[in-house]
Amino acid sequence: MGESETMQADPVRYVPPVYRPPSEADSLILPLTDGCSWNKCTFCEMYTDQHKKFRPRGEQEVLDTIRRCRETYGDQVRRIFLADGDALTLSTRRLKAVLEAIRQELPAVRRVSSYCLPRNVRNKSVDELKELADLGLSLVYVGAESGDDEVLARVQKGETFETSRDALVKLGAAGIKRSVMILNGLGGKALSRQHAENSARLMNETQPEFLATLVVSFPKGEERLRAGFDNWQELNIVELMQEMELLISQLHLRRTVFRSDHASNWLILKGTLGADKERLLAKLRSAIAAPEAAHLRPAWARGL
Ligand SMILES: C[S@@+](CC[C@H](N)C(=O)[O-])C[C@H]1O[C@@H](n2cnc3c(N)ncnc32)[C@H](O)[C@@H]1O
Ligand code: SF4
Repeated sequence: MGESETMQADPVRYVPPVYRPPSEADSLILPLTDGCSWNKCTFCEMYTDQHKKFRPRGEQEVLDTIRRCRETYGDQVRRIFLADGDALTLSTRRLKAVLEAIRQELPAVRRVSSYCLPRNVRNKSVDELKELADLGLSLVYVGAESGDDEVLARVQKGETFETSRDALVKLGAAGIKRSVMILNGLGGKALSRQHAENSARLMNETQPEFLATLVVSFPKGEERLRAGFDNWQELNIVELMQEMELLISQLHLRRTVFRSDHASNWLILKGTLGADKERLLAKLRSAIAAPEAAHLRPAWARGL
């Protein structure tokens, strides 16, 4: 995750820390809210600062920001990422107003994307989502984290296999591309197998266009996560790779761009699934067999 240290930038007002997916490095980050509307996941510290308490930004502020971006950047803006933690929590009406303003003020924009929780689209119909797609919303990043109901309940994600599946299917039906995040190691040792198997099942039933796996890590400590488990035991490097091996071996994807190259991962894996499935599995299996010979990222090079 990238993090902006900028306290006050013109023409956009940022409240740090601001997170965006690595693939949005060249995008204009446009905050529609501050913080995350859910903010209860026990593994996540992203919006826990007091000043990042969830708050939708006023409609006028956002429209004024878009106008100022036109004055400052003009046609240089090609991609926009709607921040913060789940901008799609806003109503369809509010989102349409933003997308229409982007169309009008920044006509060179080719891609608008956002984080999206399954619950953000629960009350939005496929037709409403299609309207957003027609207005330029082309990609959403969904932190499914797991397809396993027990893991999801223990980490207080507030979602289930079914709610995640329904949201991903709905978004796909509306023509919005889905980039899904799964957290390697989230269930600890005890739930590793069911976490991998049910996450694969979720992917198979929804066929997302993009899939990324990240290794769960805790820069501020694991106390909140541990409270939900009797005995959460962190997976070691080989166990993390074994969980990945189980996940990938059970994936039956037709055309999904797969990335396990986020800074949190020990072993970099990239490819298109299913075409590259056997190659990725072979790389994992040889790293599991001889971790010391594999080109694992050194600990100092990993991070969130
Ligand atoms: C800004 S958050 C997510 C956006 C959105 N609220 C969601 O949950 O889909 C981006 C992603 O970072 C990852 N993340 C959060 N906390 C993490 C942690 N402690 N270790 C590794 N990845 C983490 C999760 O996959 C999460 O979905
Ligand atoms: S993972 Fe997403 S939904 Fe959960 S608290 Fe973090 S930002 Fe919010």
